[in-house]
Amino acid sequence: MRGRICGTGSYIPEHYYDNNDLAKFVETNDEWIRERTGIVRRHIAEEDTTVSMAIKAAKNALTDAKLNADDLDLILVSTITPNTVIPSTACEVQKELGAVNATCFDISAACSGFVYAYNTAQAYIAAGMYQNILVIGSETLSGIVNWKDRGSCILFGDGAGAVVIAPDDKYGIEALSLHNDGNAGDALSCSTSGHIAMNGQEVFRFAVRRVPEVIEEVLGKCGWSKEDADLYVLHQANIRIIQSAARRLDIDIDRFAVNLDEYGNTSAASIPLLLAQLDDEGRLEQGKRIVCSGFGAGLSWGAAALTW
Ligand code: UT7
Repeated sequence: MRGRICGTGSYIPEHYYDNNDLAKFVETNDEWIRERTGIVRRHIAEEDTTVSMAIKAAKNALTDAKLNADDLDLILVSTITPNTVIPSTACEVQKELGAVNATCFDISAACSGFVYAYNTAQAYIAAGMYQNILVIGSETLSGIVNWKDRGSCILFGDGAGAVVIAPDDKYGIEALSLHNDGNAGDALSCSTSGHIAMNGQEVFRFAVRRVPEVIEEVLGKCGWSKEDADLYVLHQANIRIIQSAARRLDIDIDRFAVNLDEYGNTSAASIPLLLAQLDDEGRLEQGKRIVCSGFGAGLSWGAAALTW
């Protein structure tokens, strides 16, 4: 059986910083940020938390999937910014939803988190252990960003995306590939009480090399040509990374979905947030072929090819 996305939802806090707002407290400017990253705004949680945003996105996804909370067998939350170390964010979501039948745990794979969580969901579905699985990416990165570091603070934002995944014998996951390189982990780090520290150029070089590689790998696994995939949904880190992937793969840039201009890099939330937005816009018809790819701290990277 294949894990198929049968509902999507998202939640974004209203408040945002645009590039000019950032220029008030770090030495930067709108032109530099737009040119080097493509980002214009990033939304910032004021009242909201990782848990509250996860719950709101989850409720929207459940409504979209036409499921009740007690239909859920498993809740997976991918986050690097939990409200608390314990209990897990997934347990907090379970409590609020009343998803009494669900097993719950968190996954820590940073910006690759959604692809890792989808992989986990697929493994449980293929094993026949769980049916209805809620996968959430939720992040409050504004709480761990070093707001004095212009090389990183301009990138990140807050938000949540969620999908419901259920078994299907025709549509859903086609292939998955995940990779890690712990030896290179220092390029992007954050201690439990500290701030994000990043070697931007190193992470950039890693991303532009590994993302096309892993996309080619999943395309090969499911026997699709590059043109067979209708839509590429990459982690939203930097428009130049997306453009570089398109160039290296020789795929028309119009096949790459983008919303980083509005939300910046929301880590584990970015792919489900973008999927929910595309779904709302009616751009995800049944049978559409989609390739998702996440990459980031760990280092970690991966891709998932699926039929909608
Ligand atoms: O989810 C994965 C998470 N991380 C990423 O994906 C990040 C990947 N890396 C990047 O996106 C890019 O490396 C950055 C956007 C972080 C930086 O862009 P860059 O083109 O690699 O810039 P750079 O670090 O090479 O810096 C170029 C210049 C430097 O000045 P000098 O030495 O040439 O005078 C920086 O000091 O730009 C300067 N600079 C800035 N200027 C204005 C760096 N940050 C800023 C800034 N505003 N915010």
